[in-house]
Amino acid sequence: MTRRKLIAGNWKMHKTTAQAIQFANELLSRGAVGSAKTEVCLCVPSVHLYALAGIFEGSGVKLGAQNVYYEDEGAYTGEISCGMLAGAGAGYVIVGHSERRALFAETDDIINKKLLAVCSSPLNPILCVGENLEQREAGAERQAVGDQLEAALRDIGVRGVQRLTVAYEPLWAIGTGKTALPGQAREMCAFIRSKIESLYDGHAADRMRCIYGGSVDPVTAHDIVSGADVDGALVGGASLKPDVFFDIVNSVSNHT
Ligand code: 13P
Repeated sequence: MTRRKLIAGNWKMHKTTAQAIQFANELLSRGAVGSAKTEVCLCVPSVHLYALAGIFEGSGVKLGAQNVYYEDEGAYTGEISCGMLAGAGAGYVIVGHSERRALFAETDDIINKKLLAVCSSPLNPILCVGENLEQREAGAERQAVGDQLEAALRDIGVRGVQRLTVAYEPLWAIGTGKTALPGQAREMCAFIRSKIESLYDGHAADRMRCIYGGSVDPVTAHDIVSGADVDGALVGGASLKPDVFFDIVNSVSNHT
């Protein structure tokens, strides 16, 4: 089947609400964002979701969050549930970003619980996996990514996995300006798809999306996203400027 490409921005902890609104208006003033073949989503700090949902309504630009808690509600000070995110305008949520794993002690077990909660909510999960430099240099990238996938997907049913986007983000490429070679991205996305096939079935593997993240910019985006197994990109730093993000979306949607 032909999967729709996904260009997702991850703003991380950047922008005030006023700056986010300015970004949204500037992005939309450039013309249509995305196309029938290319879906566009911005994963923003959750406090901006409601304001941006009003601005992006009808534009085709979707919104996502960068984190979620797995309980529905209760005494969990500071946490936000799937239902709250969906109600504020999110359609996607990133789960298991390497920064959350490294800086906020998110374990495979916590990531699995979050993914289970997201899969039984209206949100679509973007699960991040990726090896570190040491693992890449030891030729252990498949083992590392395969282990992360197995742990995160424990007890996730086939219906959940069909809605899944896996973002392959090698740690050595995040925020370093060192993009993976298109061949490396293709090879790992193909591996991730084969792993999904072995854990589920060919149909699920065919439906799920696998995107690449790590220093994607308007120059590298097209080559990285070309090829059958790479279904898009998760863009960090280069998603913060409307003109740069617009160029990335166009460089992919004009060539697919
Ligand atoms: P950069 O594009 O800034 O390298 O960030 C990648 C990333 O972590 C996206 O989630």
